[in-house]
Amino acid sequence: MAPPSVFQRILDYSNRADPYPLYAELRKTPVRREEDGTYVVSGYEEIVSLLHDPCVSVGRPQPGEPQDAAKEPPSFIRLDPPEHDRLRRVAMRHFGPPHSPHRVDSLRPELLEIIMDLIDSMAGRTRIDIVDDIAYPFPVTVICRILGVPREDEAGFHDWADAVIESLDPREEGRQERLRRRENARVELHRYLGRIAAERRKNPGDDLISGLVADEGPDGAMSPTEVAANGTLLLIAGHETTVNLITNGMLTLLRHPELLDRLHHEPDLAIGLVEELLRYEPPVHLRSTRIALEDIKIGGITIPKGAPIVLALAAGSRDPEHVPDPDRFDPDRRPNQHLGFGGGIHYCFGAPLARLEAQIALTELARRLQNPRLVTDPPPYRPSPELRGPRHLLLDIDGVT
Ligand code: HEM
Repeated sequence: MAPPSVFQRILDYSNRADPYPLYAELRKTPVRREEDGTYVVSGYEEIVSLLHDPCVSVGRPQPGEPQDAAKEPPSFIRLDPPEHDRLRRVAMRHFGPPHSPHRVDSLRPELLEIIMDLIDSMAGRTRIDIVDDIAYPFPVTVICRILGVPREDEAGFHDWADAVIESLDPREEGRQERLRRRENARVELHRYLGRIAAERRKNPGDDLISGLVADEGPDGAMSPTEVAANGTLLLIAGHETTVNLITNGMLTLLRHPELLDRLHHEPDLAIGLVEELLRYEPPVHLRSTRIALEDIKIGGITIPKGAPIVLALAAGSRDPEHVPDPDRFDPDRRPNQHLGFGGGIHYCFGAPLARLEAQIALTELARRLQNPRLVTDPPPYRPSPELRGPRHLLLDIDGVT
């Protein structure tokens, strides 16, 4: 049997805690064909070029995915133009820039209040879990409020959201089972959001779902299924990602105590710090949803029409051809162009919110946790190589101020 390729070793769980040396090996061939015909792209320039290439589609079923998946109600992360652009524009009108540039920043006091409550509730404890106590409940509470989804219902949709996220795992083993679980979860989530949308149509509120169901703007209204599908996307897109950004942030700060101390005294550091985290320890490592619509010449080879493409975003953000001294964590790095939020037409829709959430969470944790210490380093990781992050991050503390 052939030895595992570098990419297969990246997918292997035993390398989850530190995949970065393998990414360096992968980048020696920035566009590399795997034995099964998948093309793995790891150079910064090559990834950026494919993110902007109209010959790269996200709209086709992936290998192993049911052929009728394309007929499922679409959310814009899995649609090509022009449908992608129409639905993204409608959602954007109710969410953030450019149409309502102050919308996200106006959430700052509310976000601060939520994080303060979460930190207050840890009073009296000497051991905490950054994931379960802060990094998970914080973004989930925020997105529920923005969408107008009752926070109490989270217990109900938590497992469905997990199933959708697990299905992003590109590994072969268990794939069919993950896809089956995802289909069930997607149906349940669409049903749930569909009920909320119908209710908001009758009794509109000040939330995003109410905005979407009432929108009669230049792009026309979203259909009820489109509201359910895209509401589901927004509900879960920030789940695991922001959780991992906050958790990776705390882990990195505890590995660089001088920066934790600096953030404590210099809260403005949070802006550059979060940007550098998105480059150096990003939540999204791989994107494996793309297919070549035509032959594409790139990195000295041709990706043939119909081939699946994996974009190794985290490898691209540490490409020494693009960024000097890429393995050094430096929150003062300027400029800092990274692939943490992707690029091109699918650039992260929630980026302004995710940035603000992570800045606020890390600043308040640095300010209020007394003498935090890591219990285990490295911490236990979740299985996914695509959305990579710790399952728990246990800290011992002397208390909270
Ligand atoms: C797309 C990362 C938080 C909503 C993306 C993409 C990345 C990403 C890499 C591009 C996917 C691709 O090209 O295939 C992240 C990270 C986050 C985060 C690292 C947190 C730290 C959020 C939040 C929301 C959100 C909070 C929603 C409120 C979306 C949506 C898309 C997207 C809707 C699809 C955009 C499109 O297809 O046009 N995100 N995300 N994300 N993200 Fe995020």
